[in-house]
Amino acid sequence: PLVTTKEMFKLAYEGNFAIGAFNVNNMEIVQGIVAAAKAENAPVILQASAGARKYANSVYLRKLVEAAIEDTNLPIALHLDHGDSFEICKQCIDDGFTSVMIDGSHHPFEENIELTRKVVEYAHERGVTVEAELGQLAGIEDDVNVSAENATYTNPDQAVEFVERTGVDSLAIAIGTSHGAYKFQGKAKLDFERLEKITKMLPNFPLVLHGASSVPQEYVQMCNQYGGNIPGAKGVPEEMLREAAKYGVCKINVDTDLRLAMTSAVRKLFTENPAEFDPRKYLGPGRDAIQKIVQHKIKNVFGSSGVA
Ligand code: G3H
Ligand code: 13P
Ligand code: ZN
Ligand code: NA
Repeated sequence: PLVTTKEMFKLAYEGNFAIGAFNVNNMEIVQGIVAAAKAENAPVILQASAGARKYANSVYLRKLVEAAIEDTNLPIALHLDHGDSFEICKQCIDDGFTSVMIDGSHHPFEENIELTRKVVEYAHERGVTVEAELGQLAGIEDDVNVSAENATYTNPDQAVEFVERTGVDSLAIAIGTSHGAYKFQGKAKLDFERLEKITKMLPNFPLVLHGASSVPQEYVQMCNQYGGNIPGAKGVPEEMLREAAKYGVCKINVDTDLRLAMTSAVRKLFTENPAEFDPRKYLGPGRDAIQKIVQHKIKNVFGSSGVA
């Protein structure tokens, strides 16, 4: 069934694991993700960004997710990723999304609270769960590009005040992750002390980790080997994600790894079969690659297998 994130976060919190939240942009991506979730009997969050809604047209994404639910019978949440206004959140709630993110993290604290509170009020009256964000990740999302110097980690005291005053259901925190394929210049580092503090100060409250792709080097190499050019791509080590899931982190966002897996598979196919021009012959392997990486994450990193 189409569900909110409430029940899955409760399971994740109590079981010290995390639910995978995967970005969807087309049919093959949706199918690859839910084939993996089905194989692992795992609940899953399918999330659409503003860019995804613009690319695919929101109604196609919604209907694809509906089809995925009918096909798999899994508990699936349809979530708006990085909503930047009340209006876009309202639109998605009215359209049947079961969860929305209002990302007011670029606004001053009081404005972020005000905006989030307004979305929470509208969403809760309609049985929809809300994620907000406090603190700023470095990296690129849509048109906002935050440099590493401008990234600010989440302040634990502010997080408590923010959650109390907004009534939000989950909170995305900044502890050193960032969006995209180039997360760390040198060694990967996350602020686990901060995560532990936030977890202790907000007991039983679900936290969200954005920018959590691992950028597996096998896919980076595969991309580069078959004509790509993404030198130095680097992500969050899987061990750190396992560790984060032991704390309050209940939702782990992944987009970049899906892009990498799909693209490297398509590049390989084209390089080895230059005469191929049937889209099914390259989108199929792209879809298989997504299933493989998502299944690996669910089973070996997030720990959400078997609870759907
Ligand atoms: O947070 C960013 C997600 O990876 C979505 O990316 O805005 O290019 O769809 P997008
Ligand atoms: P990645 O770029 O690390 O996959 O993060 C995706 C994300 O946070 C979507 O909201
Ligand atoms: Zn994000
Ligand atoms: Na957790």
